[in-house]
Amino acid sequence: MTRILLLGGTTEASALAKTLAETGADAVFSYAGRTARPVNQPLPTRVGGFGGAEGLAAYLHSEGITHVVDATHPFAARMSRNAVHACELAEVPVCALVRPAWQAGEGDQWVHVDSIEEAAEALPEAAARVFLAIGKQNLTQFAAKPQHHYLLRLVDAPEAELPLPHTTVEIARGPFDAAGDTALMQRHGITHVVAKNAGGAGAAAKLAAARELSLPVIMIGRPQVPERPVMGSVAAVMAWLSHPLA
Ligand SMILES: NC(=O)c1ccc[n+]([C@@H]2O[C@H](COP(=O)([O-])OP(=O)(O)OC[C@H]3O[C@@H](n4cnc5c(N)ncnc54)[C@H](OP(=O)(O)O)[C@@H]3O)[C@@H](O)[C@H]2O)c1
Repeated sequence: MTRILLLGGTTEASALAKTLAETGADAVFSYAGRTARPVNQPLPTRVGGFGGAEGLAAYLHSEGITHVVDATHPFAARMSRNAVHACELAEVPVCALVRPAWQAGEGDQWVHVDSIEEAAEALPEAAARVFLAIGKQNLTQFAAKPQHHYLLRLVDAPEAELPLPHTTVEIARGPFDAAGDTALMQRHGITHVVAKNAGGAGAAAKLAAARELSLPVIMIGRPQVPERPVMGSVAAVMAWLSHPLA
């Protein structure tokens, strides 16, 4: 009997959940619990951390999970590392559903950096207006450059005081489009964009807008995660679920 744990939090995870539900698969969807109103899934859903790799291994055992699909965000590296480690401990096969990274094209002015800290360092010293399109989790690193005005786009209104003195918060949930993001950046007089290389269509609008407005993008490269089979589509995951060792 196949019983799947789907680690979610991305558009791709939602697409896979839909297909699994349509095929009547026995699957559990898992959210970290970062947003107040997560997208409803057509699968039984649990919310919250497992308690590290050991906690996840215990969960896999107690829930009789036979397959794990890691469809978390490419920057959710701790979860991805834990998933690989837990699946080794529990001897359960794991694969990842990962969207390809964005590539710079003609007209793009990207500055490639490897970490959030480097992205903050790459911002100029003179006061600028920065679209900090990286979610809410890594804002403290930008406190090193308090002279800038930061435009933040968040799913939920911040509950705690922000660590940056000059901010505008835009509450919105993707997908976004290039015309809307161009207008947003013009409205806020944006001079620099900071982005994580998440890949995917829904969040690429800001990159098209930056190209349109000839703005530099400080592009943060993806964190390292351990080797695991990587699938590029829902169909590939479905095939892997039928033959995980192939
Ligand atoms: N990082 C981003 O830029 C980003 C962007 C969009 C969406 N997301 C989504 O937001 C969630 C959290 O991202 P993150 O960057 O905080 O991840 P992370 O740093 O890799 O994960 C931190 C901890 O959160 C828990 N966790 C993460 N994803 C989980 C899931 N799907 N189900 C249950 N527990 C989960 C785990 O706790 P335990 O160790 O206790 O198990 C994990 O160790 C992920 O599901 C991700 O897909 C992240």
